[in-house]
Amino acid sequence: MENKVTVITGTATGLGRETAIKLAGLGHRLVLVDFNEEAGAETLSLVKEKGAEAIFVKADVSNEADVQNYVKQAVDTFGKIDYFVNNAGMMVSLRLLHEYSLEEYDRVMNVNLKGAFLGLKYVIPVLLENGGGSIVNTVSSNSFKPTAFNGLYSATKHGLAALTKSIGQDYQDQRIYCVGVAPNSMKTGIANKAVQTLTAERGAQLAASTGPNIAATPEDIADTVIFALTTGAAMLTGTIVNCAGGEIFN
Ligand SMILES: NC(=O)c1ccc[n+]([C@@H]2O[C@H](COP(=O)([O-])OP(=O)(O)OC[C@H]3O[C@@H](n4cnc5c(N)ncnc54)[C@H](O)[C@@H]3O)[C@@H](O)[C@H]2O)c1
Repeated sequence: MENKVTVITGTATGLGRETAIKLAGLGHRLVLVDFNEEAGAETLSLVKEKGAEAIFVKADVSNEADVQNYVKQAVDTFGKIDYFVNNAGMMVSLRLLHEYSLEEYDRVMNVNLKGAFLGLKYVIPVLLENGGGSIVNTVSSNSFKPTAFNGLYSATKHGLAALTKSIGQDYQDQRIYCVGVAPNSMKTGIANKAVQTLTAERGAQLAASTGPNIAATPEDIADTVIFALTTGAAMLTGTIVNCAGGEIFN
């Protein structure tokens, strides 16, 4: 895996950061992308401590010019892209559908679905030029079934699962592989703000909408991301890997 060039979005915290640290240990050259400059710079230091060649590019993934810029920075710095971890994402406040504002709808769609699409739109041509490559989209157990009060987020993750399946179907002859990795209860800060809209009653309904499962750390899920991106990419392409710790979605 030495000398492979990997672009990862959402690397300031959580799964993106842990994946970057593990890939640094495997010798990947890294392009770290996030809109959180301060925590993004910390991740850059952590991967450099592991000996990785790496750059950080500040970008809002929902902004087309920012996406074009992180792809350009990757190519200008390292000459190619081998792997893409399309991971940046957010949650909006948990509500019933009719309670959401159009601004909330636009924000979560823009980041989780349009942002992921823009990454694919601009990274895939670089992979094609390089003779192929592989992609992991961070989807969710909400790509299978919405948790309670989570309809908009779930819609974005269903959408991203559909894009994953499309790539699996459309690019086989061009050696572009794409796998969806679907965490369930992963211990990060992503839901901290979103859950503040829950009353005690809704909190109980949310808990009841989730089956028993083994909670994951971002380090646990990073191992699956790396397998799906590298060794497993061709055979897993177009599929969603359910990392739900025993909770089954059919
Ligand atoms: N934590 C979970 O239980 C869970 C479950 C299923 C799926 N996921 C998905 O995992 C991925 C990583 O989330 P996490 O749990 O590590 O949370 P996190 O909040 O720690 O990480 C998300 C990262 O994305 C970045 N980001 C958000 N919006 C951005 C934007 N517009 N432009 C650039 N960067 C942006 C954040 O700054 C952060 O670094 C997300 O796609 C999330 O939807 C998480």
